[in-house]
Amino acid sequence: MSTIVFLGGGRITSAMLAGLRLKKTKHRFVVHDRNPRKLRDLKNNYAVAVETDLNSAVQQADVLIVAVRPSSVAELLHAAGRPKRPLLAVSLAAGVPLRVLTNTLGFPVRWARAMPSPVCRSGRGLTAVTFSRMLPQRDRDRIIDLFASFGTVIEIPESKFDAFTVTYSCSHGYHALAALANAGQAAGLDRRVALVASAHALADGIIAWREGKHSLESLLEEAATPGGIAATTRAAMDAAGYRKAVGQGVRAGLRRARANSRQ
Ligand SMILES: NC(=O)c1ccc[n+]([C@@H]2O[C@H](COP(=O)([O-])OP(=O)(O)OC[C@H]3O[C@@H](n4cnc5c(N)ncnc54)[C@H](OP(=O)(O)O)[C@@H]3O)[C@@H](O)[C@H]2O)c1
Repeated sequence: MSTIVFLGGGRITSAMLAGLRLKKTKHRFVVHDRNPRKLRDLKNNYAVAVETDLNSAVQQADVLIVAVRPSSVAELLHAAGRPKRPLLAVSLAAGVPLRVLTNTLGFPVRWARAMPSPVCRSGRGLTAVTFSRMLPQRDRDRIIDLFASFGTVIEIPESKFDAFTVTYSCSHGYHALAALANAGQAAGLDRRVALVASAHALADGIIAWREGKHSLESLLEEAATPGGIAATTRAAMDAAGYRKAVGQGVRAGLRRARANSRQ
C-alpha cells in the first residue's frame, strides 16, 4: 500500500478522489490544503486523511500529487522543502514544464506530469501523462496504474502537453451543450426538452463513433442528408464561423498554457 499525498484540495483533487474511491484502490490518501473547510469536506466525503502541515504531508508521501493552480506551484514547492527520502511527484499544473518543476524541487524528487479531467469523478475519464526522460519504468507504471483507476491513460511527449490540455477539456462539451440547448429553447422547446435533446444529439453520436468502427466522415455523411435539415443547419453554423471560433479558442488556450510556463 502506498501513501498518495495531494497538495491542494480543490476541484480536481475532489474529482480524482471520487474516481479513486469508486475503484476501491488500496492506497492511503492524504490531502494538504490551506483551507480547513475544504479539508473537512474531503475527509467527510472520501474518508481521506488530512494534514494541515505542508512539510509533514510531504514527508509521508510515497507519491505526491501537486494539485494547486499553476501560479501557486513555485511558492508551494519552495515552502515544502526537500523531502528526506526519494519521492515520486506528479504535477497536474497546466502549462508548467518538467524543467521548471525539477529546477524548483529537484533530487530526491522524481517528476512526471498528468492531465486528468473532472470527468474522472465518474470513473470514465482520460488522463494524459508525460515523464522526464530519466524516470525509471517502474515509476512510470505506478503512475499509469494510479490514473488508470478512473479511466484511460495515454502517454504523450511533453512537447504536445499544452495542445492536449487545451483540446481535452470537458468544458468544451458543456459549452456546446449550453449553446445548442439555448438555441433549441429559442426555437420553441422548453428548457428540459432542449437540454435532453441537445445532450443526446452531442453525446450519443460521439459515443457511437468512439465505440464503433465507422469513420467520422462517414458518420457525418450518414447523419446529414444533402440538402436536408441537418446539412442546412451545419452549413449555416460553419458559414457563421463555427470552425473559426473553435480554432481561435484553442489558440487562445494554448497562449494561456504557455504563459503558465513563464510564471
Ligand atoms: N480543475 C480541472 O479541471 C483540472 C484538470 C486538470 C488539471 N488541473 C490542474 O490542477 C491544478 C488545480 O486545479 P483546481 O481546479 O483543482 O484548482 P483549485 O480548485 O483552485 O484547487 C487548488 C487548491 O489548492 C489550494 N492552494 C493553493 N496554494 C496553496 C498553498 N500554497 N498551500 C496550500 N494550499 C494551497 C487552493 O486554496 P485557495 O482556494 O485558498 O487558493 C485550493 O484549495 C491546476 O494547476 C490545474 O491546472 C485542473
